[in-house]
Amino acid sequence: MKVFITRKISNDAVNLLRKEGFTVDVFKSNRPITKVELIQKAKNSEGVISLLTDVIDRDIIDGLKKCKVIANYAVGYNNIDVEYAKSKGIVVTNTPDILTHATADLAVALVLACARNIRAGEKIMRDNEFKGWEPQLLLGVELRGKTVGIIGSGRIGQETALRLKSFGTKIIYFNRSKKAEFEKSTGAKKVSLNALLKSSDIISLHVPLTDATYHLLNRTNMKLLKSNCIIVNTARGEIIEEKELIKLLKKNKIFSAGFDVYENEPDVNKELLKLKNVVLLPHLGSATNEARSEMALLAAKNIITVLKGKKAITPV
Ligand code: DGY
Repeated sequence: MKVFITRKISNDAVNLLRKEGFTVDVFKSNRPITKVELIQKAKNSEGVISLLTDVIDRDIIDGLKKCKVIANYAVGYNNIDVEYAKSKGIVVTNTPDILTHATADLAVALVLACARNIRAGEKIMRDNEFKGWEPQLLLGVELRGKTVGIIGSGRIGQETALRLKSFGTKIIYFNRSKKAEFEKSTGAKKVSLNALLKSSDIISLHVPLTDATYHLLNRTNMKLLKSNCIIVNTARGEIIEEKELIKLLKKNKIFSAGFDVYENEPDVNKELLKLKNVVLLPHLGSATNEARSEMALLAAKNIITVLKGKKAITPV
C-alpha cells in the first residue's frame, strides 16, 4: 500500500512506514504542496500524512480515491473537512499530547518576551546602541501577583497555566466544562469570557479553531481588556479579530501582544510589523526536535494501524 507525505518530516516516520512494508512518497519541496499537486501525487495512496498548511477540502477528498486515512501532522485539524472525510470512509487523526509541553513553553516565552521587552532589548544590542546601564531603560512588568486568564483549558492551556503559576500568578480560565483536577492543582477559577477579559493582566489562548471560536476575541469584547494586558496567541490566528487587536495595540490600549499565529497565515498584516509593542514568531509552537519527531512517528503509527485494519491511535 502507498503512503504520501505532503512535506519532508522526520526520517524515523518514513523508515517506520517502509519497515512495515508501505511504499512511501514524500513531496520534497520547501514550499507547501498545491491542491492540484496533492491530488495528482496522492490519488493512488491509501494513506496521507498532511500538514496544517494543507487545506484538505471536499475537492481534495474527492480526488483521493483510494485514501483510507489522513494523519494530520498537528494537534489542530481545522485544515481538514473532517465530516466530509468521514462521510467518505476516511479516518482522520491528529497528534495530541506530544506537542503540549513544546507549545506551553513557547506561550510562556512569549509572555516573558512581552513583559520584559526582550525584542526591543535585543534590537538595542544588535544595533550597537547599548550605552551602559540606565535606570529607565525598557522597564517591563513582573509576573508575580498578576492574574493570568487561560482561554481554553485543554492540555496545552493547563500546562501553560502550571508554568505561569510558578511565577506567583493567580489563574482564571474560560472553558466549556469545569476542570476539577486543574482547579485543584493550580487554584484556578472558572469564569465567563467577559469576566476573564476584564480582570486578566495576561491572557493566553488555547482553544481550537472552530465556528464557535472564530473571532472569539473581537471588536466588542476586546474593549473590556485592561490597559496593562498582555495577550499571547499560540493557538490559531483566526480566534482573534486581528485588525481590531492591532487598533488597540496602536493606541496603546493594552501593554503588548505575542503572536505565534496570524489570521491570514502565512501573510502577516503589515501594520503588525510596524508596531513596537508586539513580539512576532513564525508559528513555532510545536517546533522542538522532541515534539516534531514524536509527531511524525505518531502520524506514521496512525497510518499503520488504520491500514492494518485496527483502530486509529488518535482519531479526531
Ligand atoms: C498544531 O499542531 O496544531 C500546532 O499549531 C503546530 O505548531
